[in-house]
Amino acid sequence: MLKTCLFPAAGYGTRFLPATKSLPKEMLPILTKPLIHYGVDEALEAGMDSMAFVTGRGKRALEDYFDISYELEHQIAGSSKEPLLAEIRQLMNKCSFSFTRQNEMKGLGHAIYTGRGLVNDEAFGVVLADDLCINEDGEGVLSQMTKIYEKYRCSIVAVMEVPREQTASYGVISGRAIDDSLIMVDDMVEKPNPDEAPSNLAIIGRYILTPDIFSILERTAPGKNGEVQITDALKTQALEGMVLALKFKGRRFDCGSLHGFVEATNYFYEREYGKDNS
Ligand code: G1P
Repeated sequence: MLKTCLFPAAGYGTRFLPATKSLPKEMLPILTKPLIHYGVDEALEAGMDSMAFVTGRGKRALEDYFDISYELEHQIAGSSKEPLLAEIRQLMNKCSFSFTRQNEMKGLGHAIYTGRGLVNDEAFGVVLADDLCINEDGEGVLSQMTKIYEKYRCSIVAVMEVPREQTASYGVISGRAIDDSLIMVDDMVEKPNPDEAPSNLAIIGRYILTPDIFSILERTAPGKNGEVQITDALKTQALEGMVLALKFKGRRFDCGSLHGFVEATNYFYEREYGKDNS
């Protein structure tokens, strides 16, 4: 039912310099697949097949990744290497891809607003590819969120508990529990200091947004760090209507940090090849 997933991917990825000087951070690989590939897999699993990217200067590798590489594919056709491209080829056959550029860095809210032309007048998913999420026991995080959307038809954020001292790295919510995993949001603050945080429930990079978010973003003034924050727009939406937060099942790796990136790499390596395989 939800068709489009938006991937804001215009950020510089400064924590991975110098690698990200000429390589989009979303193209950094966990084993042999770039981060963006995991994000697209998750969206597809949730039933979305229209992938929309908000990119920026120096991000053309993202477009090339979701295109055919004629020369390379011709070279390796029929060889033992050919199966290595099978997974990305299958993925490409299942979705469509569209791209637009954010030409000024004015925050995540602005990046999402920039993508409005790629999203029809309907609810859509948002994946921040440097948050890599897995759920070994069942469906992916975006899939869990689409189920909630089908029932409540409002914007939804995925949240997890973090140590209080880390609240300044996240959007933080508070609200009233509907059940064990669902909260009706009544407050949201972007990157609050621990003593100002309304709780320790942090938003991770998964959203479902209803399309009225665009008109709210239009009237949302720059907030934290002088940037237009999706957290502020969602707070308006929560106060004027309803926004839900889902304590998702599964695990999230912060691949925007070196520590989380290495953790994810080790996790996927062990899962794929087993601990003792070298
Ligand atoms: C963004 C959002 C923040 C959210 C985080 C999740 O921040 O602004 O609210 O908690 O993603 O990863 P960023 O990490 O891009 O600075």
